Amino acid sequence: MKENIRQSNKMKRSFSNVIGITTGSIAFLFAFTSIPQSKEWIAPPSAVKVTNPIASNEQSIAAGKIVYTKNCYDCHGKKGKGDGPKSGDLEISPRDFTQEQFQKQTDGSIFWKISEGRKPMLSFKKEISEEQRWQVINYIRTLGIKK
Ligand code: HEC
Repeated sequence: MKENIRQSNKMKRSFSNVIGITTGSIAFLFAFTSIPQSKEWIAPPSAVKVTNPIASNEQSIAAGKIVYTKNCYDCHGKKGKGDGPKSGDLEISPRDFTQEQFQKQTDGSIFWKISEGRKPMLSFKKEISEEQRWQVINYIRTLGIKK
């Protein structure tokens, strides 16, 4: 009886070892086959509260699309999925703008991130005007709408 219990404990242990090794290897493979995503990027609370002074309408979205195609498309891709032609060269994957996780942040938060940048994404403070940054946000918002 005791022998049986010992035997079954031993089996349980080796079973969990197999599970452990399998998940370990999968995680290991995953880490090396996908481009890593950096730690979550969080805007400071004061920036999160800032509201977009540019109304979202046909004109501002069209203007934002031009800014996007010129400055963001290479990395972020046509539909904002982070699959632009340059994305393969980046050490960090650009985020997916179509996801709820991205879209649920405020315009102020997105504005701050575009202005500050975070390697490998550059800061756009000097590259594009404030107005253009708000316009590009109005455009990015349209990428999150399920069609
Ligand atoms: C050189 C490639 C590159 C270009 C060009 C670029 N980005 Fe990025 N962007 C990235 C990468 C990589 C990240 C992820 C950075 C991180 O998580 O640390 C990112 C992240 C972001 C984020 C934050 C995503 C989140 O999860 O909150 C926003 C917003 C953003 N980019 C907007 C833009 C806009 C707008 C433009 C054009 C004006 C632009 N980016 C141009 C590479 C780029």
